[in-house]
Amino acid sequence: MAHIGHDVLGVDTDPGKVAKLQSGEVPFFEPGIDDIVRDNLTSGRLRFTDSYVEAADFADVHFLTVGTPQSELGFGANLSYIDAAVDTLSPHLNRRALIVGKSTVPVGTAQRLARRMRSIAPAGDDVELAWNPEFLREGFAVRDTLHPDRIVVGVESSHEGRAAKTLAALYSPLSTDDDIPFLITSLATAELAKVAANAFLGTKISFINAISEVCEAASADVTMLAAAIGADKRIGREFLDAGLGFGGGCLPKDIRAFMTRADELGLGDVATFLQIVDNINIRQRSRVIDATREVCGSLDGARVAVLGVAFKPNSDDIRDSPALDVVGQLQLQGAIVSVFDPKAMDNARQVFPTPNYSLSALDACQGADVILILTEWDEFRALQPEELETVTGSKRVVDARNCLDPLCWRAAGWNYRGFGRP
Ligand code: UDX
Repeated sequence: MAHIGHDVLGVDTDPGKVAKLQSGEVPFFEPGIDDIVRDNLTSGRLRFTDSYVEAADFADVHFLTVGTPQSELGFGANLSYIDAAVDTLSPHLNRRALIVGKSTVPVGTAQRLARRMRSIAPAGDDVELAWNPEFLREGFAVRDTLHPDRIVVGVESSHEGRAAKTLAALYSPLSTDDDIPFLITSLATAELAKVAANAFLGTKISFINAISEVCEAASADVTMLAAAIGADKRIGREFLDAGLGFGGGCLPKDIRAFMTRADELGLGDVATFLQIVDNINIRQRSRVIDATREVCGSLDGARVAVLGVAFKPNSDDIRDSPALDVVGQLQLQGAIVSVFDPKAMDNARQVFPTPNYSLSALDACQGADVILILTEWDEFRALQPEELETVTGSKRVVDARNCLDPLCWRAAGWNYRGFGRP
């Protein structure tokens, strides 16, 4: 928002994060974000605070961007952070304001929050709510934000289109280069557009992973199959990479929250469908463990090098990382695990201190009985068999992201194991 010319005040309840951001330090890894934050701090269009009073006084439009993680009690969403943001901001809303939810929430939440805000805010009916779901991908956050595929704005029927006009004006600098669809919907449709998009992406990944099992059983190659079906424009090649499956702070918890909400709405078949998508995804982790055991003979005492613990490349995020889950299961089964990731080491170490954290890919592979590629960083794609043979004589690799060339590794005498490939 600052980058496209608006005056922005970022609010966080953690004074440590506010201080870091105010000094130009971004507390997570995301390509391109540091320069944008620094440039806009320097221009004066961006500031940070931990004061809701200051925020209410400053802004005409308030974006709610807090997390809605999986509940600790089950598969539903934990809405306590968004409830707290609304409850803390609303008493200070003394004049007309537009509140815009970006967080991913179960359908029906926006309507509840709108009623709650108006009952607390001194400005009452002058407080309006819109829902504007966020579709950016980690690792491409800047690009996806500045060049979105679409902008979805869910509005209340009672406010004569004011919210849609305000948001169209706010986003108008984006549409000068791209022809971006601007979809005005109800609050419920906007909430569902986000969870349905993520459920579809997860379904696509679980579909190809299910097919990869069939490929293995029938000696077919899922990577060629993905190219063949992906060439059909109705299907598309993206999100057809079989392997360890999906993780991260969005897809897994959104599918589970959607499942829970479908169940609450009495839609048992829909919930069962989403449950199967989740089950197939989780089973991929066991398939990787089984493949590793097969390749090594036994996991007990096996020295396993794990390359990649981030939930995907170009990210330091380890939330619901399938790779980290595999590391834990390998250790439970007696393996001695050495880990390397280009960006996620500190985050992984904090939540999971027991494996050996290495200084480089080669360091992690030193003396390994088997090498596992669990996140397809470019650095790992570029590894050459000859390079690794200098540190490990066992010549076994489990490529859980199908990112290496099997022919090249087998030609060099390696026992190569991919997924859904003969
Ligand atoms: C996702 C959605 O893509 C984004 O629109 C939404 O706003 C947030 O959730 P993100 O969590 O950044 O974005 O990750 P994404 O790129 O979607 O990847 C999710 C997971 O799926 C990763 O673990 C990735 O490794 C896995 N994946 C992706 C596959 O296993 N196979 C694929 O073909 C694609």
